[in-house]
Amino acid sequence: MDRFYFPSWVNRLVILLGLGAGALVVYGGLVYAYGTLPSTLNIGYSPEQPVPFSHALHAGQLKMDCRYCHSTVEKAGHAAVPATSTCINCHSGADANGQTQYTAVHPVSPKLLPVRESYRTGEPVHWQRVHDLADYVYFNHAAHVNRGVSCVECHGRVDRMEQVWQDKSLSMSFCLDCHRNPVPRMRPKSEITNLAWIGPDLNDPEAMKQHAEKMQQEYGLPEDFTASTNCSTCHR
Ligand code: HEC
Ligand code: HEC
Ligand code: HEC
Ligand code: HEC
Ligand code: HEC
Repeated sequence: MDRFYFPSWVNRLVILLGLGAGALVVYGGLVYAYGTLPSTLNIGYSPEQPVPFSHALHAGQLKMDCRYCHSTVEKAGHAAVPATSTCINCHSGADANGQTQYTAVHPVSPKLLPVRESYRTGEPVHWQRVHDLADYVYFNHAAHVNRGVSCVECHGRVDRMEQVWQDKSLSMSFCLDCHRNPVPRMRPKSEITNLAWIGPDLNDPEAMKQHAEKMQQEYGLPEDFTASTNCSTCHR
């Protein structure tokens, strides 16, 4: 039987295929390495909500304070998403006689149907969680808010978001970067929910010094104040 000889160009083809396969392996490795870093996994995560609730409208345009709805941020570890009754303050629907209140905003809007249903049945609206730390990490809102750390440091400009997304990595290094040197990122308590507040110029030593003194005074801190970096602070 005649032996079959591959034409000589096949040699080159084999080399090319080999290079291609090699490149694919490297590419795949990179995608895997970067794609699975905890810090890149969640940024931009923005689940669809059962009601198209807009922070840009309510917190931005209408200038409602975050604490009107997230009323526990200053007192508790959890910020808590508001109960349906909070929405009903403005968005009540029709009563048993089909009458809508004079003051109700969008009383028959289909977008608000799940809210009216929830109010009628007592079942909470099924809001989808946006931020979710691993269970082995302890976090506490009140500890931050009462030490002059604004929502914007960890959640970005929520007052401009139509649909909330995760704006920061919330990785361990993100937390520690601030804990090692928190003072430049602290602000007066009165500005905690003012996400547009502009802090001191980080490149102006005189302004930074004044800021640090102001923070020490307002919060009664020692000059060398840092937040804890002990493992047990966050892993208990
Ligand atoms: C009128 C009520 C209301 C106001 C005011 C409001 N929120 Fe919300 N917020 C909600 C509701 C409802 C949700 C759950 C649905 C969603 O994620 O959009 C929510 C969700 C969030 C989430 C995501 C929570 C999660 O699941 O991880 C963050 C962060 C947040 N709000 C921050 C803020 C900040 C910061 C402000 C002030 C600038 C603010 N909110 C003002 C009602 C409000
Ligand atoms: C203080 C009053 C107030 C509260 C409380 C409030 N809203 Fe609103 N909301 C408004 C106003 C005012 C508008 C309409 C703005 C416009 O149409 O220009 C609106 C509009 C909306 C719309 C758009 C409706 C449509 O058909 O376009 C949705 C959805 C909505 N709100 C959801 C909610 C939810 C969910 C809550 C509770 C977490 C809530 N709102 C709490 C005042 C409020
Ligand atoms: C130092 C960072 C930080 C600051 C400051 C902060 N948050 Fe959060 N927020 C988080 C983290 C982290 C989570 C996720 C918590 C978890 O998974 O246990 C979260 C979750 C939330 C949630 C979902 C409910 C919950 O408690 O899990 C809401 C609502 C919220 N934040 C609103 C706010 C508001 C409003 C402010 C400002 C008044 C604020 N946050 C300030 C880091 C922060
Ligand atoms: C922008 C600055 C900043 C960021 C970002 C930040 N923290 Fe903090 N954290 C602080 C400050 C300031 C304190 C208060 C320290 C004090 O009072 O001694 C604090 C305190 C704490 C405490 C102590 C609470 C208590 O009960 O004593 C925990 C736990 C904590 N942070 C966890 C976290 C975690 C987890 C993250 C990341 C998801 C984070 N922090 C991100 C500034 C920050
Ligand atoms: C200020 C809060 C904070 C402190 C202090 C802290 N961690 Fe973490 N740690 C976190 C957060 C946030 C994560 C990431 C959780 C996630 O990915 O959801 C994390 C994750 C981890 C992980 C999982 C692997 C990883 O890198 O994602 C290990 C292990 C860990 N920490 C060990 C430590 C040790 C050891 C210390 C003390 C030297 C420490 N942590 C101090 C907040 C903290």
